[in-house]
Amino acid sequence: MRARYSVNAVGARVDVTDSASVAAGADTAVAQLGGVDIWVNNAGIFPSVSLLDMPDEVWEQVFAVNSRGVFLGAREAARRMSATGKGGVIVNIVSTAGFKATAPGLAAYVGSKHAVRGLTKELALEFAPLGIRVLGVAPTYVPTEGNIAATQTALEAAAAAGVDVTQLDVMQQSMIGRIGTPDDIARVALFAASDLSIIMTDSTLLADAGETI
Ligand SMILES: NC(=O)c1ccc[n+]([C@@H]2O[C@H](COP(=O)([O-])OP(=O)(O)OC[C@H]3O[C@@H](n4cnc5c(N)ncnc54)[C@H](O)[C@@H]3O)[C@@H](O)[C@H]2O)c1
Repeated sequence: MRARYSVNAVGARVDVTDSASVAAGADTAVAQLGGVDIWVNNAGIFPSVSLLDMPDEVWEQVFAVNSRGVFLGAREAARRMSATGKGGVIVNIVSTAGFKATAPGLAAYVGSKHAVRGLTKELALEFAPLGIRVLGVAPTYVPTEGNIAATQTALEAAAAAGVDVTQLDVMQQSMIGRIGTPDDIARVALFAASDLSIIMTDSTLLADAGETI
């Protein structure tokens, strides 16, 4: 990636549920890249378990990664952005599951993503005086490593619950005539992170090919 884009890139292994790990990742950015200007909270998990069978630990782990992880990431990023006085941008990857129910088995996921959408607004409110904008990006279904496997499990959970959900329902019918790609979502995240969205904070941008119409 460094050579392809002629940029300096550094990798750091971070567990977003562990505040010390998140802080260490942010410190790596400061030490090796000179600071934090843009922070994207992207990590997420989406196990499919029906509500009747949902173990406490699964619920808690989904919220730990998807919601608490966003809080920890935003806090550590904002501490370092405010220290320089330059501000910055925080982008939270939400989901159309932050706007609606999706499929049986995804209650924890839907709850955690609604939480991120709300948190995005409050982060925007509290960080505005620091010159930090906070935006959400809410993708529709996009085939990624994790989501391809999760879709199959979601279909099985729906069938077990007696709900007739087809693969097409789970993947959502796209109004643009094709399924989205990770690059489609990255473009919206880039818009959110760049000065093109300079007037925006607190919004969660639907990158949903019309799914929530
Ligand atoms: N793919 C989709 O259709 C879709 C749709 C809407 C929203 N999203 C959101 O996009 C984001 C990325 O999802 P994806 O589809 O690329 O999934 P993915 O499973 O392919 O990637 C998720 C990544 O999160 C990482 N992760 C999980 N737990 C972590 C932890 N504790 N600490 C650090 N990293 C951790 C995983 O290692 C993995 O690399 C998620 O927030 C997801 O909810 C995806």
